[in-house]
Amino acid sequence: MILVTGGCGFIGANFLNWATREFPHEKFVNLDVLTYAANRMSVREAEERGNCDFRQIDLANEEQVRETIRELKPQKVFHFAAETHVDRSIRDPRIFVHSNILGTFHLLEACREVWGNHWEGKVFHHVSTDEVYGSLGDTGAFVETTAYDPSSPYSATKAASDHLVNAYCHTYGFPAKITNCSNNYGPYQFPEKLIPLMILNCLAGKSLPVYGEGTNVRDWLFVWDHCDAIWKVAHHGKNGETYNIGGASEKRNIDIVKGICTVVEELTGRKNLQDLITFVPDRPGHDWRYAIDFSKVEREIGWLPSTTFEQGLRKTVTWYLENSKWVESVQTGEYRNWIATHYQGEIKP
Ligand SMILES: NC(=O)c1ccc[n+]([C@@H]2O[C@H](COP(=O)([O-])OP(=O)(O)OC[C@H]3O[C@@H](n4cnc5c(N)ncnc54)[C@H](O)[C@@H]3O)[C@@H](O)[C@H]2O)c1
Repeated sequence: MILVTGGCGFIGANFLNWATREFPHEKFVNLDVLTYAANRMSVREAEERGNCDFRQIDLANEEQVRETIRELKPQKVFHFAAETHVDRSIRDPRIFVHSNILGTFHLLEACREVWGNHWEGKVFHHVSTDEVYGSLGDTGAFVETTAYDPSSPYSATKAASDHLVNAYCHTYGFPAKITNCSNNYGPYQFPEKLIPLMILNCLAGKSLPVYGEGTNVRDWLFVWDHCDAIWKVAHHGKNGETYNIGGASEKRNIDIVKGICTVVEELTGRKNLQDLITFVPDRPGHDWRYAIDFSKVEREIGWLPSTTFEQGLRKTVTWYLENSKWVESVQTGEYRNWIATHYQGEIKP
């Protein structure tokens, strides 16, 4: 049995929809507390295949986690669940400490107890971020040995969870692997994140808020390429090792937003969408640039991203155009409140 945590979130849902199709004889269980960022609709495809069950569990609740792992006795664990939005972590870091640090600790402890030092055939795959490495100047790229230097409460909690996973490997010989990846984009991403927010605001004719001058640089990874990398590292990577995963697509934020305007104009016939761009005060402690060197995973496992940014962006815009029901279902009252308070009412969803 394969346990997937956070399977109702963006990457977890894409992973489950893909893995249940590719591996129909495997049995999956999706464990998710269903925060504002989660949506059961995102995993309907996986659930309809009949090889994916769902449990509503809070990883921050140690007792619940222990009982569930004792009962399910998973062979493999793919740990996606986390609070993930940097801006929210700046406003209220507490929940990030509970879900990302304590949640990971509870899951590690429960697996250690149930696996009882019999690591044969067991896999614990911890999904993490390149944000743990901090920020880069105009040149260079993060490698797996780059010193951790997280800037936001979000990245600090992810760094802490990575350290816990590594410590379990060193101390107990625990069979874990970590992947640290760059910014993901694709279907089912909650529209508080840059790419879906801009797509939906373009469609609604609302302003396109860009932090600072839009010159911060990120590397962009199409989520299906990421899912493929996770599966390959989990099955062919070495225990106790970290692998960086990137999309080979470094872009300035402003160029991402302009690119979205162009694709939405092409696909919908709308015009002059770049006129909607508004520059808003920069995020405190905003990291300048992330770039990721993923030559280790290429060399040792033979993984490379197969989607160019232009292909991935077109697939993503098309998906949001064709899935308006999903979009409506995530634009809850909580989402509206967040957008209204965070952008001081400049954007009215
Ligand atoms: N999205 C990205 O660009 C990106 C980049 C690098 C790394 N990551 C990492 O990938 C993982 C998945 O990211 P995502 O973008 O899919 O996140 P997301 O915010 O879309 O989904 C997170 C999921 O975790 C669940 N969750 C949160 N707290 C929980 C708890 N206490 N117990 C059980 N479930 C809980 C939520 O309900 C939600 O379904 C995270 O660990 C994140 O740090 C994401």
